[in-house]
Amino acid sequence: MTTTAKTSSAQGAPLSVREYEPLARELLDPVHHDYFAGGAHDEITLRANEAAFARLALVPRILRGRGRPDLTTDLLGRRTSMPIVLAPTAFHRLAHPDAERATARAAASTGAIMIAAMLSTVAVEEIAAAARKTAGDAQLWFQLYVQRDMGFTEALVRRAEDAGCTALVVTADSPALGRHVRNDRNDFHDLPPGMVCENLRSLRADEPGHVRQVDLSPELSWDHVRRLRAMTGLPIVIKGVLHPEDARIAADLGMDAVIVSNHGGRQLDTTPATVTQLPRVLDAVGDRIPVLLDGGVRRGTDVAKALALGAAAVAVGRPVVWGLTVGGQQGVEQVLGMLRDELAHTLTLCGCAGPAELDRDMVAREDPRW
Ligand code: FNR
Repeated sequence: MTTTAKTSSAQGAPLSVREYEPLARELLDPVHHDYFAGGAHDEITLRANEAAFARLALVPRILRGRGRPDLTTDLLGRRTSMPIVLAPTAFHRLAHPDAERATARAAASTGAIMIAAMLSTVAVEEIAAAARKTAGDAQLWFQLYVQRDMGFTEALVRRAEDAGCTALVVTADSPALGRHVRNDRNDFHDLPPGMVCENLRSLRADEPGHVRQVDLSPELSWDHVRRLRAMTGLPIVIKGVLHPEDARIAADLGMDAVIVSNHGGRQLDTTPATVTQLPRVLDAVGDRIPVLLDGGVRRGTDVAKALALGAAAVAVGRPVVWGLTVGGQQGVEQVLGMLRDELAHTLTLCGCAGPAELDRDMVAREDPRW
């Protein structure tokens, strides 16, 4: 039997997550496209994240009669529709006027967890309201850059708690801002007039919510995280782990999960691809805490590879932004729906009834010498 592979629909609608980026590029101000798409320095890590997934092969099981897979997953003690989370990305208003409200609605209608960025262009309360109006049980986690001013940090934490966020995601890979050649060339260092980081603005009446207010400091340490642990009963997730020893420290300090992340190649360039580093981190923490991964996830097969290696879930950054740019809430729903359907299809083809049936033996490293 011969079939012709369909690569684009009759209407030209995207049929894969990667197809959203060129569409978004056409719609965005080139400076803003560069901000979303770019990475640090030579963008070696940015490219490595996707390339590393491509070098891994899936080794399916056959004839196991497992039926249709169930994607529901438990994360931090709560059930979610799939092991795919929306990574925190800043400044959604640059992508679409509905901004983080649209993203939150899409996540809620898909039953996916959204990690709301501290540097959102809609206040966390409004993001939470938009999510909850769409689905009463919508789950929102709040991403935090711990500020040296712990009073300011605590005020942000209380706000996230009061808004109903169910976990704090502490981004730990940013003791300084990554250097982006594209942003430097474009002289893009803050939001355009009329747009601000709403979570910063309403906290400090005297400050307008500029990105410049954010205090990324090399002085931050595990001590700050310990203080955060004492400050809130919310689960704490440490984002930006690459070294296995740091994952072990996080588990020792009572953190609830870690995210293996290189910030989508936007912080230190030439760090390893996240999926390359994932098994090393997992070997260090074992089953003590869930390990999530983000960076370069563009296909259901990528999700399956990360899960097979032992990740509890993955998070996606840029694909959500491209979906938002192209179609607002609907665009994000389409992107999430594609990843969900591809993951279900992949599990079926791998002979798995759900993510838990994937294991390390089902991933092989493609060796270029063969
Ligand atoms: C990010 N990321 C990010 N992370 C974070 O902790 N706080 C933030 O404010 C942001 N902002 C942000 C903006 C943009 C435009 C991008 C692309 C990314 C990093 C993000 O959470 C995640 O780690 C990566 O995006 C994952 O890689 P992919 O999925 O984009 O390849």
